[in-house]
Amino acid sequence: MKHDCAELRGVPEGLLPLWVADMDFRTADPVIAALKKTAEHGIFGYTVPGAAYYGAVRSWWGGRFGYDFDARSVVVTPGVVFSLAQAVRAFTEPGDAVLIQRPVYYPFTEVIECNRRRVVNSPLVLGDDGRYHVDFADFEKQLAQERPKLFILCSPHNPVGRVWSRVELERMGDLCLAHGCMVVSDEIHADFTYGGNRHTVFSTIKGEFRDNSVVCTAPSKTFNLAGLQVSNIVVENSALRRRYRKEIEVSGYSQPNVMGVAACQAAYEDGGPWLEELTEYIQGNIRLTEKYFPSVTAQGDPGRGAHGVRSIPLEGTYLQWLDFRGTGLSHSDADSLLINRAGVWLDSGTMFGAEGEGFQRVNIASPRRLLREAYEKIASETEFSN
Ligand SMILES: Cc1ncc(COP(=O)(O)O)c(C=O)c1O
Repeated sequence: MKHDCAELRGVPEGLLPLWVADMDFRTADPVIAALKKTAEHGIFGYTVPGAAYYGAVRSWWGGRFGYDFDARSVVVTPGVVFSLAQAVRAFTEPGDAVLIQRPVYYPFTEVIECNRRRVVNSPLVLGDDGRYHVDFADFEKQLAQERPKLFILCSPHNPVGRVWSRVELERMGDLCLAHGCMVVSDEIHADFTYGGNRHTVFSTIKGEFRDNSVVCTAPSKTFNLAGLQVSNIVVENSALRRRYRKEIEVSGYSQPNVMGVAACQAAYEDGGPWLEELTEYIQGNIRLTEKYFPSVTAQGDPGRGAHGVRSIPLEGTYLQWLDFRGTGLSHSDADSLLINRAGVWLDSGTMFGAEGEGFQRVNIASPRRLLREAYEKIASETEFSN
């Protein structure tokens, strides 16, 4: 989709594609070996994940994040967006409010609105420290006034790149508990955190959070398996899990794809060293981004380059949020400059909500040579337009 669908998506052919969130990297060898072995078996009947599958999922999350859950709490689904939509239907009624924090991954809005629920937005705010923060006063106000039944949390956050601290998560979770709002925590980007930033699984914070939440996980971002469509949704509260499974049944989905199951198990069993190498490479790309488009850091504001673009510090995910407001270009002029003059295909910030005006999202899980070429073009075109 990233490379072959320009015409279908209404953009010119030949752009450098740095938009949709999958990687230009071949997955881990153990995953490819497991897929080959499954293909060699030659029988692709209905498949039920076995104990080894659940063991692999549990030990990945237990080992990395101290997240210990029972195998029976895992609901295997064909994707996180599908699973968010099921959660909206299982835990709310048409007309109910669902809380999100824009700018945010745009399918959050789609799964709410397509199911005829109402979006309640508590926008994130960009602080003087160059990072986004939760406006807790507004968050509480929205909970009290709009009475959302569900909060869809993006953790780590796409597109602003925050890895929420335990303190921030606890404060959001406590407010949700106090106002009778369930939490669906989308943790698909959990494996990508950098520097001193540590991912905390929402429901590990306290027992009440476990009982009041659904945690969405998947190997797809981590191991570049989006096309294999497998995700693991953890619902520890058995009453909520019954409702959730029922909703999935209503949609007519039952067994997962045999290739997805094989790939997920192999990735979680043997993909650790590959992920370490990948993370190092991505950190090199973060340094490259900082070189072209410096961010405001704890050391202060280095100022914008002549081109006026700066980056928001990337704590987690491989999606870099770039601030174009210093270029003097309107949002639509920046969109058109990027496509028509720089020849790069990014995700325009307004896709993530009106709060994304003046911003663009770059997928940095791309070969460095390609990223450098894109940054050169962006820097020189915006400098020229300044
Ligand atoms: C926060 C978030 N959730 C979910 C997804 C997609 O998940 P899936 O492909 O499993 O539907 C993405 C993809 O970019 C994402 O960023």
